[in-house]
Amino acid sequence: MTDSVSPAVPPSPDDGADRAERRWAVVAIAILVVLVVMAVFAGLQQATMPQSRVETVDPRTLHLGGEFIESNLGSALEPDGSVTVRAIGQQYSFTPQCILVPTDTPITFRVTSADVVHGFLITGTAVNLMLVPGYVASLPARFETPGERYMPCHEFCGVGHEGMWGKVKVVDKAAFLQMAATAKRLSCVK
Ligand code: CUA
Repeated sequence: MTDSVSPAVPPSPDDGADRAERRWAVVAIAILVVLVVMAVFAGLQQATMPQSRVETVDPRTLHLGGEFIESNLGSALEPDGSVTVRAIGQQYSFTPQCILVPTDTPITFRVTSADVVHGFLITGTAVNLMLVPGYVASLPARFETPGERYMPCHEFCGVGHEGMWGKVKVVDKAAFLQMAATAKRLSCVK
């Protein structure tokens, strides 16, 4: 009588490599799954919970009324001693073209665009905003030393982009307060 049970297949030398390969495939798939879950979660989170503070403004009516009407642009001294700077970017200039701010004072920049996306950057400082039409870009800042700073548009906004720039003049706090006593909105536009 012959033995009908086939003999056990002897372990092939490839078996170990096979198993290792399969294990790594599982690890790779697991990483992929984690990344997909993260992407889906981040997307849903952003869609359901937008930024805590988004301020909108109609770029077509900026000049007709509201916060960004021309007579309200420039630096305003607030009752609490801080300064709010309002400005507009448009193809291809800033209004006001020269922004006046005091040293040693909490300053809030509030800037928007009247047409396309522009950049608002004050060289040598952390002030760096993107001006998107329809939205108010706001940022706190503080200047320690007096002097002049260059303020170029740093988002390509059309053929005149490279000619779009302004200046920020930081003056001594006492001098600023003296000027603020006689004018409601200050700038260094001559
Ligand atoms: Cu405005 Cu570039």
